[in-house]
Amino acid sequence: MSEDHILLERPQVAAGVQVIRFNRPDKKNAITDAMYRSMIEALKAADADEDIRAIVFLGTPGCFSAGNDMADFLGFAMSGGKGRLTAGDFLHTLVSVEKPIVSGVDGLAIGIGTTLNLHCDLTVASSRSLFKTPFVDLALVPEAASSLLVPRIAGHQRAFALLAAGEGFSAEQAMAAGLIWKVVPEADVEAETLKIAANLASKPPQALKIARNLVRGDVDAIRARIDEEIVHFAAQLQSSEARAAFEAFMRR
Ligand code: COA
Repeated sequence: MSEDHILLERPQVAAGVQVIRFNRPDKKNAITDAMYRSMIEALKAADADEDIRAIVFLGTPGCFSAGNDMADFLGFAMSGGKGRLTAGDFLHTLVSVEKPIVSGVDGLAIGIGTTLNLHCDLTVASSRSLFKTPFVDLALVPEAASSLLVPRIAGHQRAFALLAAGEGFSAEQAMAAGLIWKVVPEADVEAETLKIAANLASKPPQALKIARNLVRGDVDAIRARIDEEIVHFAAQLQSSEARAAFEAFMRR
């Protein structure tokens, strides 16, 4: 059940904070269409709820997310592109959220497990975390407007290493590149993430919203890049190289 794979929590220690937790540890928190749909609903509900003033993404011990579910990728490829890329709907919803978003990463952050953090305002990661986007190795292309945001944040070479060469970044490398806010021991990730979110939730919401919008800048450019990337992504998903890569993964 997707409801179990996405847990919604309101921790007592963090007043005003909505936690969205990836909870599919047996599949390294790979995200299915049903999980994207659950998160879309959760984000919309949190944004509409006056009692919620900050949103947090968390995973499970040692794993934030291994990215999009490979079986769903294969299903889209086999459908001849007739299916819907729910990830795109999720990303547009994420970009539209008007409340601060904090993520706490412990361990694997692959594909969208890395790129969703680009839409978070602060990311805390454990020192054992790995950020990696093997898009090209799967015959895919960058998504989540990462092709716009990562070069802007980290410069061409680091963006190319991450998004095109598929190099993994340690937490320290990700922080040095400006992709995340803080590196802490793994035992402290959740407490530190919730502390930061609760602190944001205690601030005057209107002033925080304006400050956030000013810092984020042109969100329409982000939306446009998500759409531009999705056109290529959907076409590449149906390529024979991509299908072979998904089938090889499923056969392992
Ligand atoms: N989609 C679907 N299932 C996934 C998955 C994904 N993205 N990532 C991991 N899983 C599943 C594995 O199939 C395995 O399932 P099984 O036990 O039923 O065989 C389980 O999660 C554990 O994964 P495993 O590969 O055995 O763990 P590992 O520690 O050796 O390796 C990863 C972890 C994340 C490095 C490896 O699973 C991987 O490369 N996953 C794909 C990541 C990816 O390319 N994502 C898409 C990016 S666009």
